[in-house]
Amino acid sequence: MPATVIVGTQWGDEGKGKITDVFADRADFVVRYQGGNNAGHTIIIGDERFALTLIPSGVLNPGVTPVIGNGTVIDPGVLLEEMATLESRGIDTSLLRVSANAHLIMPYHRKIDALQERYLGSGEIGTTKRGIGPAYTDKYGRHGIRVQDLFDPKIFRDKLAVALKEKNKILVKLYNQLAMDAEEIAAEYLEYGARLTDHVTDTSLLLADALAADKNVLFEGAQGTLLDIDHGTYPFVTSSNPTAGGAAVGSGIGPTALDRIVGVTKAYISRVGSGPFPTELTDEVGATMVEVGGEFGTVTGRRRRCGWLDAVALRYATRVNGLTEIALTKIDVLSEFDTLKICVGYEADGIRFEEMPRQQRVLYQCEPIYEELPGWKQDIGDARSMDDLPPAAREYIERVEKLAGVPVTMVSVGPQRRATLSR
Ligand code: IMP
Repeated sequence: MPATVIVGTQWGDEGKGKITDVFADRADFVVRYQGGNNAGHTIIIGDERFALTLIPSGVLNPGVTPVIGNGTVIDPGVLLEEMATLESRGIDTSLLRVSANAHLIMPYHRKIDALQERYLGSGEIGTTKRGIGPAYTDKYGRHGIRVQDLFDPKIFRDKLAVALKEKNKILVKLYNQLAMDAEEIAAEYLEYGARLTDHVTDTSLLLADALAADKNVLFEGAQGTLLDIDHGTYPFVTSSNPTAGGAAVGSGIGPTALDRIVGVTKAYISRVGSGPFPTELTDEVGATMVEVGGEFGTVTGRRRRCGWLDAVALRYATRVNGLTEIALTKIDVLSEFDTLKICVGYEADGIRFEEMPRQQRVLYQCEPIYEELPGWKQDIGDARSMDDLPPAAREYIERVEKLAGVPVTMVSVGPQRRATLSR
């Protein structure tokens, strides 16, 4: 394994949590490198269901050190609550390590996220309203507050005063809201700092030492390739880099250390929030995908938009992530359909596109070009090896791998750990 990155190849919700959990068996460290508590990773172990938003899925594997890297944005109240919930269910969180350089999500970030969305009206992005975008905006504007600042009350208060000078003007004058009180926020956050202090460290050094000692490090991407701020369907994206390159920047290890990049791909595709979606199905087939696939957000509970697998987007994801392989998930959901479709190109204005078009407008206006494959119409949830799958399911997998250009090395036929077939 030594350094393996797990990335989503779509708009998130590909089943990364489960695949990470399967890999985590062999991992010593599991690292979140971007995003924050906008992510929702659902993992089912035995009869228990765990929904994590910020803590890496690896926390569920005894002995694994979960790491929250510098590229993330952390809402410390949420982090402490998630730790407490896990502890109350018998999961040890004492090994959790948090980068001192990660940025904090502040109360005004959450507020501004919600207000900006309201302000955009029908043009809203459909964010999770967790303050992710505004926290990254402050990071890149160079007036963010970092985890390490929690341990220096004077610096924390100074930075907060500077931030609030601007934020309170925005809240009061632009959005007609009440101003926020610096001392109230400082008291709350400095207390969080005191509770987190034993977990905060130089995680870049920690991971470098781990790799030097031949430990296995797993990087757990949140969201997905098409939600990447640079490579996604901008502006309907998140504010970080879920793509594989983000793993290096967001954890402070060199890109040469990454040797395996696994693209988690759902056998169909979904998105929450706004933005273009060429293969979206608003008919009964789409509704069946939502229902059978349980396509409701882990974080916000929103109904996901669903559609057929988009191989143009998948090839794009292979390229921008440098995928070495694919883990194909939720293929059991396709058992419902007589015929399956895969989008192999887009057509707009009489032009056929086999790569992502230069102009995003095309994604709104195009007709997907579909290839049809036979369905298998039988329950495959109990399959435990590739040989247990009907020929049509194997044909579907082979077609996906051909279109993506990299091998499918894992197939998931159900939410349980054991419902994962290796190829
Ligand atoms: P934000 O990350 O809350 O700013 O939201 C930006 C966009 O990313 C919205 O369309 C969200 O629905 C989407 N998004 C954020 N996190 C996830 C996720 O974990 N899965 C799927 N979509 C997400």
